[in-house]
Formats: sequence, structure tokens, C-alpha cells
Amino acid sequence: MSIFANMKKNIQMVDVVGQYKHIQDEINNAILKILNKGDFINGAIVKEFAHNLASFLNVNHVIPCANGTDAIQVALMSLDLKAGDEVITTPFTFVATAEVIALLGLKPIFVDINLKTFNLDAHQIEAAITDKTKCIIPVHLFGQGAEMEKIMSIAEKHNLYVIEDNAQAIGAEYHFSNNTSKKLGTIGHIGTTSFYPSKNLGAYGDAGAIFTNDDEIAFKIKEIVNHGSSNKYHYSRVGVNSRLDSIQAAILNIKLKHLENYNLARQKVAQFYNNELKNNPYISIPQISNFSTHVYHQYTLLVNDRDNLQKHLKEKDIPSGIYYPIPLHLHQPYLTSNLSLKNSEKAAKSVLSLPIHTEMNKEELKFICNSINKFYK
Ligand SMILES: Cc1ncc(COP(=O)(O)O)c(C=O)c1O
Repeated sequence: MSIFANMKKNIQMVDVVGQYKHIQDEINNAILKILNKGDFINGAIVKEFAHNLASFLNVNHVIPCANGTDAIQVALMSLDLKAGDEVITTPFTFVATAEVIALLGLKPIFVDINLKTFNLDAHQIEAAITDKTKCIIPVHLFGQGAEMEKIMSIAEKHNLYVIEDNAQAIGAEYHFSNNTSKKLGTIGHIGTTSFYPSKNLGAYGDAGAIFTNDDEIAFKIKEIVNHGSSNKYHYSRVGVNSRLDSIQAAILNIKLKHLENYNLARQKVAQFYNNELKNNPYISIPQISNFSTHVYHQYTLLVNDRDNLQKHLKEKDIPSGIYYPIPLHLHQPYLTSNLSLKNSEKAAKSVLSLPIHTEMNKEELKFICNSINKFYK
């Protein structure tokens, strides 16, 4: 009988509870401290977390906010763009990026991805630039960076802003051709992130943050997240209410200390999958560019016969995800007539993301890999 026959099958895509158990006392105490203090909004811990995250990222300003969608919206609002201005981004991502562009009366312009990294193909950006283009929003999808050096040089040439959507790659490093490195999210004019619970640095609820090295932009962002105000009951611009609450900040402040280890644990899981799946001719394992590390928010394969493989895994109680089944340019609110983005459309048909998190063990990983390899025999 196979050693896996009696295995309790409770494999999860993400195990937020298992991860919590390791830091339970510290987290519980931090929450209790806030409950006893009562500074639920804008407490000292929010500033402390922002300070610690700024040191970790080596960036001048971190402005916490309510979630990763708000982070992109507020970043765009700080640039004082006009209705109808164009923002170049990727169609192969979570909807938030394009949604806030459209919400602000701006126009998302989708440029195709590079099929190796699933990220915006920097070499196709210039062809999409018009006199209305004002900003580029690359998304560092699944945990590795878009080609920032090229994107920044295009932005400089055409006088464009760059906002990095770093919801999926916090802690990953970008290597420049002059041998220097920076953390992703700190290269463009503004970086944004989400601390959604399943993210590499996940809160226990909604949370997000915005990063910048630009003092003027930071000042505007601080006002925008606070109803357009830096002086109580005086409003200098239209803003929003987007705050990180103290309980989430306390949780994130503890988890930030573990982020590097969490990312290492994900890289080990990815290495295991790579070794077991690399010789399967029906599968393409994730490819890593030479300019960015990969922190594997997702471990995403390109596979043959994707839907049947997913069914086969489900029968074995192995969860998997399709991020993303339809590229954004094909959804009703974002339809652009006759736009064909072949790589994004191809990826949407063939991607499959496997379970990856900090709590996975070898038995689970072997079981998943054996099940995949057997499917193709
Ligand atoms: C790439 C990307 N951008 C933006 C978001 C939005 O973040 P949130 O769910 O915190 O609003 C997410 C996550 O969910 C994301 O993956």
C-alpha cells in the first residue's frame, strides 16, 4: 500500500491558522494591549509599524492604509491626473489595479505580459504610449518583479509616473545592471501593497500601505488617506477615509519580524516543487528572471489540459487555484474593442497555482507532486 494512502488530506492553499499558532502568545498579547489601551485608530503602534516597514524596505515614507486597493487608488489620486488620462498596466492580474484607474475617470491601457514571468512586457510599453499617457502601473505578479530598470527608463524618457503594485512581492529584491539592489515597491515614484490575510505579510483582516521616497508625494498621500486633511477640520484636497487600524498594525508589526523567514519557507516549497516537476514535459515550472528574486506569493505552473488536471487534484482533496481565469481586457467594464493580448489570453487558459505557504510539509508536497505526475502517465 502507498505510504500516502492513509494520509489525512487537509492540504490548504494557505494556512493562516497554522502560521498563527507559532506566534500565538505574542499576537494575543499585542491585541490585548490595544484592547486595554483603547487607541484603536491611529494608535502609536500604527506609526511604529510604518517606521519598521520603512526600515525593512529602505524607503523614506510608509503610509499605512485600509487595504491594497485603496493603496493604488490613493497613489493615483496623489498624482493629480485629469479625467481621460491614460495609465498603462497589465491585464493579467487581480482586478483592483484596473478598477481604481477606471474609478478615477482615468483610462486603463492594457499591455501584454511576458509569458515567462507573467509580468507586464516592458518591451511592448512604448508602443502603447500616447500624449495622454501619464503613468505606468506594473504589478509584481506572484512574487517576482516586472522589468523595473527598463520601465523606469521608459518612464523617464516620456515623463511618466510609475506606481509599483507590490501586493504580491513584499520582501523581494530587484537587481540593477550596475550591481545595486532595491526592494520591490521602492523603485517607482510610489509603491503599494496589500496585507490581505493570504499575502506573504498578511494581517488578520484588511490592511494595506503606500511607499515613496518623494516628500511632496508623501505629504499628499498622508492628507488623502485622512479625508484630504493634515489639519483637523481643514481640507486642502478631496480625500478618502483609508486607515490601518491599531489591531492590524500590531499584528503586522510582529509578523514583519518573520517576513524574511516566511519568504524563505515559500522559496523552499517552490524548490521542492521545481525538483519534482521540472522533468514533466507537460508542465512549465515558474521561470525566474535574472533581475528579481521570487518570493512565491503563488507557485504558478503553465500546464497542458489544465481543467482536467485541476479536477484530478480535487478528487484527491488537493486544492489549486486559477489566477487569473480571464484577463481584464476581456471583462465587460474594461473591454477594449479588438484588443488581443495573446500571452495574457494564453496564460489565462493554462495557469494553475499549487498550494504554497509557510506551514507545508514534505509529505504534502510529495503527495501533490506524485498526483500531478501520475495524471500525465
Ligand atoms: C496584485 C494585487 N493588487 C491589489 C490587490 C488588492 O488588495 P486588497 O485586497 O488588500 O484590496 C491585490 C490583492 O488582493 C493584488 O493581488
